[in-house]
Amino acid sequence: MTDIEAVIFSEAEIAAAIHRMAAAIARDYLGKTVVLLGVLKGALFVTADLARALESVSADVVVQLDFLAVSSYGNAHRSSGEVRLVQDTSHSIEGKHVLIVEDIVDNGLTLKYLMNLLSGRAPASLRAAVLLDKPYNRRVEVPVAYIGLTCPDEFVVGYGLDYQERYRTLPYVAKLRSEIFTPIGETVAT
Ligand code: IMP
Repeated sequence: MTDIEAVIFSEAEIAAAIHRMAAAIARDYLGKTVVLLGVLKGALFVTADLARALESVSADVVVQLDFLAVSSYGNAHRSSGEVRLVQDTSHSIEGKHVLIVEDIVDNGLTLKYLMNLLSGRAPASLRAAVLLDKPYNRRVEVPVAYIGLTCPDEFVVGYGLDYQERYRTLPYVAKLRSEIFTPIGETVAT
């Protein structure tokens, strides 16, 4: 695609990372039921692929799926932390082992908001699995139990990640050409 400057992570690299995460999760949740709680819309694909990878690596973990959606005001680079819950889970998480699944963690404010919100609902356990970690601009400490890949300090799109609602369906993670990417104040749909 001509809008793309460079592929950062290929389809194969993403698939391998998800399988590594699934293997680690399967070890930790052996004999348990885990709710993979995907954060829409960005984590749609990673949640689906992680759920299926978990099924394939272990018959001894029961996987349930739920989703919530958040949006946060920020600029095109990153969220401001003024996170808003746009859509809640469809089932109660009380007493459940919950694994939040996110596409990317950057300043950490979105995940922190979700951890605070969900820990108040008395889950049996609460952890986070994130495909891409950008550890360079953290504003808050937030524990991420499972990380797929460490992402360069670039704005990336694809595999669920968007720029102005575009590029989510690319099968790889890529950097946009600078002519396409113009950071101005806007609402970030995660
Ligand atoms: P944080 O609150 O800064 O940790 O960022 C979390 C959210 O910001 C993610 O769920 C994304 O929606 C968005 N975000 C952060 N970095 C990127 C990026 O490089 N590309 C697309 N979205 C991003």
